[in-house]
Amino acid sequence: MDRRHALEQIKNYIHDLFKDEPSGHDDVHMTRVASWAKYIAVKEDEDPFLCEVTALLHDVGDRKLFSEPEQAVHERDKLLVDLGFTEEEVDSIAEAIRTVSFSKGMVPKSRLGEITQDADRLDAIGAIGIARAFTYGGTINQPIYKKDRKDAIDHFHEKLFKLKGLMHTESGKQEAEKRHQFMLQYLEEFHREQACREETSHVTE
Ligand code: ADP
Ligand code: NI
Repeated sequence: MDRRHALEQIKNYIHDLFKDEPSGHDDVHMTRVASWAKYIAVKEDEDPFLCEVTALLHDVGDRKLFSEPEQAVHERDKLLVDLGFTEEEVDSIAEAIRTVSFSKGMVPKSRLGEITQDADRLDAIGAIGIARAFTYGGTINQPIYKKDRKDAIDHFHEKLFKLKGLMHTESGKQEAEKRHQFMLQYLEEFHREQACREETSHVTE
């Protein structure tokens, strides 16, 4: 198989599928996750090519993004076969992707799945993760912050602060630590600004 050609074709396919996705799962999310998966794979002595390909494809067939997920998965696998991936490779890519999602609460069975999950989780935390949480919140009409409603700030506690402790790889953990600290700082400032408004509201309202 010509790996360079395969990667180029897969990137084109991902660009076409996700370029207009509005909730933080656009093609740039896929390429960021793919770069991190490749980086982690090199550090962990795993196959960087297979990790990059799996990461590029990790959101194909996601139920919240596709109206016909089975069809999308079928097309994904057909592309891989056409590009020369073996049946065994296609199966391990598909298996790794099935276990990526946090909400499904699945645990990866392979190193490929663990690396893909770590790379995807890195993109949910830190400065980029904060941006994605608010963007996702916007697409589901969720407020940024409201005392009496589920808001995007709740999501930090329900998911984002847990991810650091769920990383599988050493290099994933190191990067997650930095991003976790940044989110703590961010929330501290967020609440300072919010409290400031609340303290002065009796003067202005
Ligand atoms: P999962 O891993 O559960 O499949 P995703 O990785 O697809 O979820 O989540 C996509 C992005 O949207 C992540 O950055 C995540 O933090 C964010 N997100 C998911 N649910 C919410 C929510 N209720 N409020 C704000 N952001 C959310
Ligand atoms: Ni993703």
